[in-house]
Amino acid sequence: MDYKALITSEKDKSFINSIEIKDTESLPENDTLIKVKFSSLNYKDALSASGNKGVTRNYPHTPGIDAAGVIEKTTGSKFKIGDEVIVTGYDMGMNTSGGFGEYISVPETWIVKKPDNLSLSESMAFGTAGLTAGLCLRKLLLHGLKPEDGEVFVSGVTGGVGIISLMLFNKIGFDVTAITGKTDQADLLKSLGAKKIIDRNELDLDLISPLQKPIYAGGIDAVGGKILSNLICSTSQRAAIACCGMVGGISLDTSIFPFILRGLSLFGIDSAESLLETKEEIWNNFATDWKLENIDQNINNISLEDLPREIEKILKGDQVGRVRIAYD
Ligand SMILES: NC(=O)c1ccc[n+]([C@@H]2O[C@H](COP(=O)([O-])OP(=O)(O)OC[C@H]3O[C@@H](n4cnc5c(N)ncnc54)[C@H](OP(=O)(O)O)[C@@H]3O)[C@@H](O)[C@H]2O)c1
Repeated sequence: MDYKALITSEKDKSFINSIEIKDTESLPENDTLIKVKFSSLNYKDALSASGNKGVTRNYPHTPGIDAAGVIEKTTGSKFKIGDEVIVTGYDMGMNTSGGFGEYISVPETWIVKKPDNLSLSESMAFGTAGLTAGLCLRKLLLHGLKPEDGEVFVSGVTGGVGIISLMLFNKIGFDVTAITGKTDQADLLKSLGAKKIIDRNELDLDLISPLQKPIYAGGIDAVGGKILSNLICSTSQRAAIACCGMVGGISLDTSIFPFILRGLSLFGIDSAESLLETKEEIWNNFATDWKLENIDQNINNISLEDLPREIEKILKGDQVGRVRIAYD
């Protein structure tokens, strides 16, 4: 069966993205074939689509770590034809053909049944960015963080992970400080519940001091590097931070003091390899207690043909909110 996909190919040591017609016979041999209805763009997809061999080893390749669609064929026992499902992470979009194509073939152990009260389209407004925000929040809540403990922060807040972290924190009653490089987006951030906005340049500095004024009871960091290094030093007693991103750098300059003098906990999140039951828990939360009625705001809805342009934009850190791909 023919289908349309974005293909990233290597040519003379550079990488190009084009839309091509493929045959489902060329997909990897797995137990379940899914007709993809929606996908979404994440930073990792842009790395894959620009030839980052830490993400994708072999090209030509179809990126797309997210897909929401309908079971078309299965030899597994968990799903039946017509079931609406969500697939995020594991190897999909990395070295297994991903959601930037109209069909995917994946093992059923990667698939979550879409909960009632959440549409396929809404699920890809969240995508991996939302799932990651949800996993960060889950860690912090399991740690015992409560709104009455005080102010929390979100860094990289206009990006995919950041914006959904802000919305989720706000939904469950936290006072959020938004840390952003796009202070011109202040009105948007306030409308989504940010109580304070800080220009990220104020924190994007070599470590100011190993223990700074205690401000935050917790936070979600999608940036890493110098910004996370400084935030670690501005936490109050028994605070907790969940970190997941590296757009600001992979190094961490810190000392033992915030950990042994303030009891800080730093949690790392790896959404792709999270247990399937943990992913199911988060998707169910998005359909119930963490339902975001405004999730469809700040979504840029595009077609496959628009993806190359949006990939360039996310690589420059210029995206605001989420990009969702809809197939016919
Ligand atoms: N560990 C996991 O499981 C997991 C899952 C998903 C994503 N991630 C990672 O999380 C990060 C964010 O992903 P995303 O999909 O939300 O990406 P995104 O939509 O591009 O958002 C990243 C945001 O970070 C800020 N930023 C960009 N460049 C920066 C820089 N040089 N220094 C500091 N801040 C910068 C920008 O927000 P402002 O302008 O508002 O500051 C940007 O919008 C990426 O590193 C991604 O790989 C990890």
